[in-house]
Amino acid sequence: MKDQQLQDKVVGDRMNRVDGRLKVTGAAKYSAEYELPGLVHGALVGSTIAKGRITSLDTKAAERAPGVLAVITHLNSPKVPGFAAKSNPDEPPAIGQPLRVFHDEKVYFNDQPIALVVANTLEQARYAARLVKAQYAADEHRTDFEANKQRGFLPTQAKRNPKSAQNDYDRGQKNGYQTAPVKLEAEYVHTSEMHNPMELQSIIAHWEAPDRLTVYDKVQAVKGTQRAFAKDWGLPEENVKVIATFVGGAFGNGLHNWPHETAAIIAAKKLNRPVKLVLTREQMFTMVGYRPYTWQRIGMGATKDGKLVGITHESVGQTSSYEEFTESTLQQTRMMYTSPNVSTRYRILGLDISTPIWMRGPGEATGAFALESAMDEMAHLLNLDPMEFRLRNYTDVDPDNNKPWSTKFLKECYQLGAERIGWNKRQMKPGSLRDGDWFVGYGMGVGTFGANRGTAKARAVLQADGTVVLQSATTDIGPGTGTVMVQIAADALGMPPEKIRFELGNSTFPTAPSQGGSATVNTVGSAVLEACTALKGKLQQLGGAAFASAKPEDLTLAGGQLSLASNAGTKVSLADLRKQNNGQDIDVTVEAKPGNERQKYSMYSFSVHFAEVRVHAMTGEVRVSKMVSCADAGTIVNHKTAGSQMIGGAVGGIGMALTEGAVMDHRFGRYVTKDLADYHVPVHADAPAIEVAFVDKPDFIVDPLGTKGIGEIAIIGVAPAIANAIFNATGKRIRELPITPDKLM
Ligand code: MOS
Repeated sequence: MKDQQLQDKVVGDRMNRVDGRLKVTGAAKYSAEYELPGLVHGALVGSTIAKGRITSLDTKAAERAPGVLAVITHLNSPKVPGFAAKSNPDEPPAIGQPLRVFHDEKVYFNDQPIALVVANTLEQARYAARLVKAQYAADEHRTDFEANKQRGFLPTQAKRNPKSAQNDYDRGQKNGYQTAPVKLEAEYVHTSEMHNPMELQSIIAHWEAPDRLTVYDKVQAVKGTQRAFAKDWGLPEENVKVIATFVGGAFGNGLHNWPHETAAIIAAKKLNRPVKLVLTREQMFTMVGYRPYTWQRIGMGATKDGKLVGITHESVGQTSSYEEFTESTLQQTRMMYTSPNVSTRYRILGLDISTPIWMRGPGEATGAFALESAMDEMAHLLNLDPMEFRLRNYTDVDPDNNKPWSTKFLKECYQLGAERIGWNKRQMKPGSLRDGDWFVGYGMGVGTFGANRGTAKARAVLQADGTVVLQSATTDIGPGTGTVMVQIAADALGMPPEKIRFELGNSTFPTAPSQGGSATVNTVGSAVLEACTALKGKLQQLGGAAFASAKPEDLTLAGGQLSLASNAGTKVSLADLRKQNNGQDIDVTVEAKPGNERQKYSMYSFSVHFAEVRVHAMTGEVRVSKMVSCADAGTIVNHKTAGSQMIGGAVGGIGMALTEGAVMDHRFGRYVTKDLADYHVPVHADAPAIEVAFVDKPDFIVDPLGTKGIGEIAIIGVAPAIANAIFNATGKRIRELPITPDKLM
């Protein structure tokens, strides 16, 4: 939907990924692929109890095994200086203070790393790891969420900070839904979902000097990781270098630092050699976080003509015993609909398991499952079309704070999606559409996520060969960050994208936040835009009088020249400008940050997902036969990469709805789903044709590019869309994910 004037712009194009060729040819280097002289390999040994103490460790056989260089345990580990400060037995620390690996004999969860075997080869390390024998004094453990959910507590952060979003919240009357003529009360639950990006979590730790650490690490935050390890080891930040040039998928598990990373750093310190540690697929299920098991209860009340009177939404999510993890499970309930009465209660439950972590659409995807299922249930009670019910409660201001939205085009999303899925085929009466042995149904679910632009720096350098290199310490976990930054710079500089390179994933670059919370384009993209403007400003100064009064948008760098878009005759070669600059590269670094718009506006991306499902009448098998995902995410910088993000989110949502769920044997506090055979992520055969539609209207309040963020809304609302479609197909309301065939029999 570009107008004529913008025809030559690169933003909005379906540009191919700048690193696509590197990735598909294997030339892209991931964290475990760096070759360093003297590199050795680690393998972790995990505990076999969920709670207690290690009473003895027999490492002799492992130490004698071929190629073994060291077996590191709490008995011989070099002390991590930062660990001492983290000990506060009275108060579990908030997220960001991970398990203190090899610190003492205590065991907090099953498969907690208790030893690291380092050997010359990976095979030698893995073999010897099996020879380490531990004995324990086990304490009684609590891992069963259902048996313990009444023990949920208000997070410490919320207790300390009355303004915390996790605190108890009442708008209007507490539990006001109870006064409504039409009422619904229902409980929703999903088991833990495990992070399974293609690339395994991996690190190479290398002490280049006793006080200088370099890590090649699979993370979403190079600067955050730098800060965390600098603090752990009592080093100035600049002494720690973090490299994550390529990341093979990460959906939140790279937003935290995990015990295996520190284990590798400890080993590298002890041996004074670079140590590579790649988790096994099984360890991905126990050592690097997951979407936490969550129980929710909704009370919803409405008038007979479909106006919401109240919503009460309670939730209990699990966390570990040693670290408090929280997420925004209840946020969508506070702001999505015009309900005069809203109450939310958020609790967490500490169990003897490892700490959860954000997983795509963290919290919001969980909360939306309950809220958007309940909206569908209420629409059914009212005998209203679920889209009509949502429209009757649509709001043009944020009811949480009465601020106007910066932009909201959710109605447009409804229309786009309804047309494409064929919503008019949906029958009001469940179970009334049938195609042979298959019941057919349609459902929808809405998603939202804050447009949380942050602060970032970017550097732009005009080099001698006339190309521009940009740098910022963000990462690219798969969405195509490098590609869209080049597009943004191409338009800002008036240069072809081939002449621009964007470098990321290196903590020595200008600072940027973690790649998380759907905020990379609005945050780092804005910094890239400003860096390009600053670079042009510097060239303008060097260009002298002819350019003195030109506006930045009139200056272009095409064809190796600085010229005016409005008057191509005014030009000077970039080579000449470089001479003016004493033959130096022209080099600028800027910081871009949001203003005070958050005080005036409420800023969110919105999505709606439509699903068509087929449920087999005899077997309960569910096939998602069609999906349409529509998003109001502001400007779409690249329709190809953004579309791919939406498709990926929808597939993740199919997993959440139908196949993914961890199963634990509570006798041992150990997961039995520990590989991709037992834990099912959707494969191609599970994913139908997924259509994507963007409203593609800019939001210049959020940032100068008009972008709002896509990553999270791609999954938020998908699972309830599928659950609602299953209800429409069969009349069976399943409130427990994943919806496996047994639940439909
Ligand atoms: Mo996302 S859960 O912020 O990687």
